[in-house]
Amino acid sequence: MSKYALITGACINTGVAIVEKFAKEGWNVVFTGRNCEKVHAAEKLYKEKFPQSDIIGYHIDSLLDERTVDEKSVEDMFSDLDNKGIFIDTLVLNAADQGLGLEVFENPLTDFMRVINTNMVWNYCLSEHAAKRMKENGGGNIIFINSNTAYRAIPNRIAYSASKGGQLGMMRAMALDLGKYNIRVNAVLPGMIKTDRWEKNPEFYKNVPSRFTPLGDVAVREDVADAVWYFTAFARNTTGAELVVDGGNTIQLYPVINK
Ligand SMILES: NC(=O)c1ccc[n+]([C@@H]2O[C@H](COP(=O)([O-])OP(=O)(O)OC[C@H]3O[C@@H](n4cnc5c(N)ncnc54)[C@H](OP(=O)(O)O)[C@@H]3O)[C@@H](O)[C@H]2O)c1
Repeated sequence: MSKYALITGACINTGVAIVEKFAKEGWNVVFTGRNCEKVHAAEKLYKEKFPQSDIIGYHIDSLLDERTVDEKSVEDMFSDLDNKGIFIDTLVLNAADQGLGLEVFENPLTDFMRVINTNMVWNYCLSEHAAKRMKENGGGNIIFINSNTAYRAIPNRIAYSASKGGQLGMMRAMALDLGKYNIRVNAVLPGMIKTDRWEKNPEFYKNVPSRFTPLGDVAVREDVADAVWYFTAFARNTTGAELVVDGGNTIQLYPVINK
């Protein structure tokens, strides 16, 4: 019987590439998005493209408000999966609040809370519900889509960098506590990815320093999906690990810019 992966934030961009990677590899996929119509539209497209896979979309938001994670919707989703007899073998925590445009001195504290609550607390909540079932089923696999901004800061992203740095600490601590249940917990750290934001703003992205890497290019969505697949299919004895997918950007003291 084919296994199930759950991928969060998978109506657009990197999440789509991760869903498609698992479906191409013969897995069944559960995915989330926040908007009901977008989830139904994505589910329809995935089902047409991968008729051999069972593909189920849930529309859930991380928060009730900036201060409060919606734990109930996570509980309801996992209960519904239990009722359908579906066990999530692999959880990919891809969805993130990008925390764009938050400036120190300008934004209210609730904006900071919103980013931390989505990227850390909600992901902890999802992990806990998934891991409980993985423990009962003899093991599982949890993968955070993190960011090289966990290590290197970029302007006006304090909340985002904090959330991704905290996420790595959480990933390692979870790997430690869950290892005895044969649950592996790892992280993929992309640098810049060619998403629709990139495609809509080519002039800006052509000139940002994170564009200049030893490999001379940034990641495409499929590079991130392949790293997720590595942790899923080829990393039986790996937990608490970080796989950086940034063209070598963060190994540099400063970017070498060839004009
Ligand atoms: N793009 C980059 O250059 C880059 C670089 C480094 C790391 N990353 C990381 O890679 C992952 C994917 O990035 P991406 O650029 O492909 O993502 P994206 O285009 O920003 O999409 C993020 C997804 O997260 C969902 N999401 C956002 N806020 C949410 C919330 N409050 N509750 C529930 N879901 C929420 C969105 O749902 P809706 O579809 O409902 O809006 C969307 O599907 C993220 O973890 C990101 O931090 C990205």
